[in-house]
Amino acid sequence: MAGETDLETLLESMHPVVRNGEYVYALWPHGRPLEGDVEAAVREAEGLTVVLRRQEADRLGLAYDFVAAWITLQIHSALEAVGLTAAVSAALTHAGISCNVLAGFHHDHLLVPAGDAERALGVLKLLGKGIVLRSEQPQDRPEILELTAQAFSVSPVTGQPVAGTPIEVGLLRELFASEEYLPELSIVAEIGGDIVGHVISTRAWVGELPLLGLGPIGVAPTLQRRGIGSALMKETAVRAAAAGEPGIALLGSPAYYRRFGFVPATSRGVQPPEAVWGDHFQLLALPGWPDDVRGTFRYAAPFERL
Ligand SMILES: CC(C)(COP(=O)(O)OP(=O)(O)OC[C@H]1O[C@@H](n2cnc3c(N)ncnc32)[C@H](O)[C@@H]1OP(=O)(O)O)[C@@H](O)C(=O)NCCC(=O)NCCS
Repeated sequence: MAGETDLETLLESMHPVVRNGEYVYALWPHGRPLEGDVEAAVREAEGLTVVLRRQEADRLGLAYDFVAAWITLQIHSALEAVGLTAAVSAALTHAGISCNVLAGFHHDHLLVPAGDAERALGVLKLLGKGIVLRSEQPQDRPEILELTAQAFSVSPVTGQPVAGTPIEVGLLRELFASEEYLPELSIVAEIGGDIVGHVISTRAWVGELPLLGLGPIGVAPTLQRRGIGSALMKETAVRAAAAGEPGIALLGSPAYYRRFGFVPATSRGVQPPEAVWGDHFQLLALPGWPDDVRGTFRYAAPFERL
């Protein structure tokens, strides 16, 4: 049977499955006859590379450093399917996940750092829906501002249509130009090259403690409630934790943000800039959160001018 060759169909039908256990790449000692349970091998002029279970490498006394999770893309992908591996590796690269691709006769296989397996699965699941997350580039800004205008054309506070340009558009324009702008924390969701979602987090403080203030976040109105907002929120939390940020604060509906681990900020010692915000001012404490924090939250300067 000829495998799938249409890239969109391939991406939609991609069912990533993680094999049990950990896998390693090792160089097979020159001159030693090949033995043991080898999952894949590549012969080069310099020597033989083998991929095998970590325990098997240990049993055979082989040295390795890269310890990987093995993800199989369960589609019958024709070897000539142009674009599948490029799309997969580009999406993983945007997420900062390194990946080695092995093509078998039936399936493509990805070896990603063992600790990144779950996150890689999340990236692949989104890619199956055609969604790629990546850092914003300056040339994306007009499209992001347009998307933000659409997303906030109905006020999230009153539920009523907004007359004129929503204030979030001007705020975002100022945040892009502000000292508190952090490029890695301005993230877009893209479908087929179009920007369909955006979230930004900027430098903020509680007393002397630097942390993040999240917002605005917006998803194209016709594509809301399909998981794009959630994907942007989760990506923000992962990137923030990896950057050593202690926490993320935001103003929004507790019913939405609770699912990502946000709690009323006051329960972690942080007072909102305006007392009336109450429990709508929320905080996600990341692993570096110092428990003795007490103080009032201060957003990036452009928020102060609202
Ligand atoms: C809020 C927003 C970013 C969420 O993005 P999204 O892609 O639609 O959200 P997801 O698909 O990831 O999540 C949908 C889930 O969140 C819920 N949800 C979405 N917005 C919500 C809100 N304001 N309050 C409570 N729940 C909300 C949905 O009911 C859905 O729940 P379910 O999974 O149990 O069915 C998007 O709806 C948006 O751009 N809204 C307009 C702008 C805005 O309000 N921004 C946030 C200001 S704080």
